[in-house]
Amino acid sequence: MERFSVNDCCIIDLDRHHSDRKGNLTVVENGKDLPFDVKRVYYLYDVPGGESRGSHAHRSLNQLIIAASGSFSVTLSDGVNKTTFFLNRPYKGLLVRPGMWRDLDDFSSGAVCMVLASDVYKEEDYIRDYDEFLNFRNNG
Ligand code: TYD
Repeated sequence: MERFSVNDCCIIDLDRHHSDRKGNLTVVENGKDLPFDVKRVYYLYDVPGGESRGSHAHRSLNQLIIAASGSFSVTLSDGVNKTTFFLNRPYKGLLVRPGMWRDLDDFSSGAVCMVLASDVYKEEDYIRDYDEFLNFRNNG
């Protein structure tokens, strides 16, 4: 499997259809915007202030993380390098490649974290232990 680093994870500027009097509309379409097809969408919301989410990695899942409302931070680590991204616009998506440990925090009140994922939910794709993650990165 291809090995990615945090440098392969980036903010993607999504399409924005602006109408002066009627607001904005953003589209994500398979085959156009992402290096993967979307099989699942889920969203996190009502996260109490000060709480964090994530603290895991995925073996092969690709994701696009979007602050559909409000804001939060996503810290990614590939076991060597770490980068923090601040998401606060519904037309910006963070591309998270497989094999990244992620921590989500600094949720604003009303934040909605929408995730577009390349596969259905599979618990066996998760790595929830940091030492196991480092082992996966070094030997996996
Ligand atoms: P988890 O991915 O651990 O949440 P986070 O990393 O944001 O803290 O998921 C929380 C719970 O939701 C866990 O019991 C698994 C369940 N879940 C599903 O059943 N399907 C899904 O698609 C996701 C993302 C989670």
